[in-house]
Amino acid sequence: MPTENPGQERRKKVAILGSTGSIGTQTLDIIRQQSEWLEVVGLAAGKNAQLLSEQAREFGVKSIALFTNATGSGIPYGMEALTKIATQTEADIVVVAVAGVIGLLPTMAAIEAGKQIALASKEVLVAAGEIVMPAVRRHGVKLTPIDSEHSAIFQCLQGVGQDQIDSLILTASGGPFRGRRKSDLENISVEDALNHPTWRMGGKITIDSATLMNKGLEIIEAKWLFDIPADSIQVLVHPQSIIHSMVRLTDGSVLAQLGNPDMRLPISYALLHPERKVNQLPSWNPFTTPNLSFEPADESTFDALKIAREAIKLGGTVPCCLNAANEEAANAFLKGRIPFTKITEIVKRVIDQHQSTAPTLESLLETDANSRAVATSLIESV
Ligand SMILES: NC(=O)c1ccc[n+]([C@@H]2O[C@H](COP(=O)([O-])OP(=O)(O)OC[C@H]3O[C@@H](n4cnc5c(N)ncnc54)[C@H](OP(=O)(O)O)[C@@H]3O)[C@@H](O)[C@H]2O)c1
Repeated sequence: MPTENPGQERRKKVAILGSTGSIGTQTLDIIRQQSEWLEVVGLAAGKNAQLLSEQAREFGVKSIALFTNATGSGIPYGMEALTKIATQTEADIVVVAVAGVIGLLPTMAAIEAGKQIALASKEVLVAAGEIVMPAVRRHGVKLTPIDSEHSAIFQCLQGVGQDQIDSLILTASGGPFRGRRKSDLENISVEDALNHPTWRMGGKITIDSATLMNKGLEIIEAKWLFDIPADSIQVLVHPQSIIHSMVRLTDGSVLAQLGNPDMRLPISYALLHPERKVNQLPSWNPFTTPNLSFEPADESTFDALKIAREAIKLGGTVPCCLNAANEEAANAFLKGRIPFTKITEIVKRVIDQHQSTAPTLESLLETDANSRAVATSLIESV
């Protein structure tokens, strides 16, 4: 049941990049539920012209775009067309939910156009946090995280001063291979890796969850979002995915945000912040849920966390290189072109060959392209 809007408060106008994906379709579900408060004014996707057109019809949206040309569809396409959706005058909020760093240029353009950013595409901050966050501050725009862990931290930090934060604890489900040894991972199939225990997500992030690279990317994302040194960001495996993350304060108190593993809750918060509205999502019930448990992450079997921490330490364009190599390697595994264990091995080798420079938009785009080329040649030689 949509909540009431007795004062007919102006509805927030939302443009969605990646509307046909897991986050995109769940964002539209929230907008359906919250039609008193939210409306869609722009939609963009990669290549799925049919679903994009259906969404545009349902929500009465005229501004749509694809990245890849869908012959005969008449839908504007390419990076410029995506950027137009992200910067259109009507939009108040741009949801960035494309898979990968491809969202960087439209995100930067949306920030420069003064739009609020609701960010799901963590790759944008991993690769370019050092230029994105200053742009957010320079243009005085709001950036609300959609990633559930970062939404949890963002919620815990409402009303908390920066000088009161001791450290962040990112929770992780542990992925489908929790408890396995390195030798068990040799013959993992794509189907096994896509079988995530608690979350239903797009392909690339599901593979990242299986390698634990997702948590490595999230450490980098958290560092930029909350301005916390990576050494003060810990990872804790919590297989039930009910506690979405925690913040330890300087007086020793620990705050946590809890909820069912349902991305529509963080999406809803990111869109409606600082408000909360009644919705149709089932609330987590502590009386019926079994015990919540915790264990340390197995960093010797899953070396992605170590690789990500080293990339942050090296800084410069290295995190961008890590992201590009990981996107290529994870997608190559998804297509059955490399074994599971090669994913992080390739990422490591691409980073080893990278010459880091100071991050600017140009150097980051160049790093992204070069790192993909190196990763592709390593993938081809497997
Ligand atoms: N799913 C989750 O629960 C979750 C949770 C936290 C964070 N995230 C983050 O959210 C982002 C999206 O994840 P997802 O799971 O929603 O992925 P997904 O289901 O694979 O959807 C990806 C979306 O991006 C679009 N896209 C792909 N390539 C594109 C391109 N070159 N230009 C424009 N659009 C493009 C796709 O369009 P087509 O359908 O046309 O290909 C689709 O709409 C990722 O960065 C992920 O890490 C996801």
